Amino acid sequence: MEHTGIEHVKALDAQDPLAGYTAHFYRRAGLYMESNGLGLLCREAERTAARVMQEWGTFACDGWMASDPPWFFYPERLAGAQAPLVGAEPEELVLGGTTTTNLHSALATFYTPQGRRTKLLIDALNFPSDRYAAESQIALRGLDPGQHCKVVPSRDGWRMEEEDLIAAMDETVALALFPSVLHEGGQLLDLARLAEGARARGILIGFDLSHSVGVVPHALGAIGADFAVWCNYKYLNGGPGCPATLYINRRHFGRRPALAGWHGYNKNRQFSMLPHFEAAGTAGGWQHGSPHILNMAPLEGSQGLVLQAGIGTIREKSLALTGLFLQLYDRWIAPLGPVLATPREADRRGGHVTLLHPAAKALGAMLEQGVLRPEHLERAREQLAAFEPGARYARAQMLRIPFAPLYTRYEEVWNAAAAIREMLLALEA
Ligand SMILES: Cc1ncc(COP(=O)(O)O)c(C=O)c1O
Repeated sequence: MEHTGIEHVKALDAQDPLAGYTAHFYRRAGLYMESNGLGLLCREAERTAARVMQEWGTFACDGWMASDPPWFFYPERLAGAQAPLVGAEPEELVLGGTTTTNLHSALATFYTPQGRRTKLLIDALNFPSDRYAAESQIALRGLDPGQHCKVVPSRDGWRMEEEDLIAAMDETVALALFPSVLHEGGQLLDLARLAEGARARGILIGFDLSHSVGVVPHALGAIGADFAVWCNYKYLNGGPGCPATLYINRRHFGRRPALAGWHGYNKNRQFSMLPHFEAAGTAGGWQHGSPHILNMAPLEGSQGLVLQAGIGTIREKSLALTGLFLQLYDRWIAPLGPVLATPREADRRGGHVTLLHPAAKALGAMLEQGVLRPEHLERAREQLAAFEPGARYARAQMLRIPFAPLYTRYEEVWNAAAAIREMLLALEA
């Protein structure tokens, strides 16, 4: 790949085992810049959503048991199908709520400050909602988040070092919560190393897999994670408002879910409507109220496509796409100024690559529209003029480029890199 040219890139598309999947999606003109925000709609998602609507029309309330699969078991069924993506057992997974509410539910159960072990450990680059949840759970225990939320700083503002995270796991920490892939810089953390570090120090550990599920394979059971949360609307393409997934390691099935509700009840007896809570004895015990059947229906089709493609093949293509972009970055883009925030090593990359540049927003708009317009240059010039030399890069200066393997072609990576170069050269002229 040293001398990558357009012919070579076209050959990659021609040999791509996932090439047929792009036709399943409602694609857009330019490079879709939000596949790590909200994945595109695919025909399969449309079909399963339409089927569930029809079931409602046909069965009305009987749909809870008469539909196929029954709505009553739909959250367990859909989440259970994700088991091969994350290296879990089906009964360790359940669908429902949001990533944030699942995090609250898990923290309410597993964050039990006692004696000297009172702190909740997070990293400084965590998604803000996770930090808000962590701090509010600390406050709910009557503790001061300023004292008990231990935040590991980043050395450079966009990466985290595993050794720093592990060094912070001292005897004051009760629970650690880290992301799999940093939502801004795109770095993939070594979850096995972090889980081992936590276990060796008697600390419980949870992960937020929102930016990796469906694009990076995980082995939650093998690494011994205590719990994990993720959203299903990014690389799993479940659509806006799609419920999230909660993973509970089976060694915790005996624990009482801290936030109980009737859909977390032992399903054999849920409708006995007994006054005292009897948890389901699986991750299903962490459910609360009526599942959002209509919102989860698209996920049945969209994750089916991911499972059919195979997470190993998806990861291979994802690394090839980001690897190609990195080669073109070195050749065309780096000399023009943008800094690479994402680590270069394959085992430290997630599905997106992040560049730092004062005109990131204008570059992103140009990529999204697929064509360089005078207004992009005008905006870029304003952004360049507003950036103080020597200032630290902030979120506004991050150009996050996601390459969803199911609907991104190698040629689009080539075109994106060429377009960035063209715009940067025009700005220099
Ligand atoms: C890493 C991460 N965690 C949590 C969330 C919040 O998810 P939700 O809106 O489902 O609570 C997001 C949303 O994008 C996210 O990217």
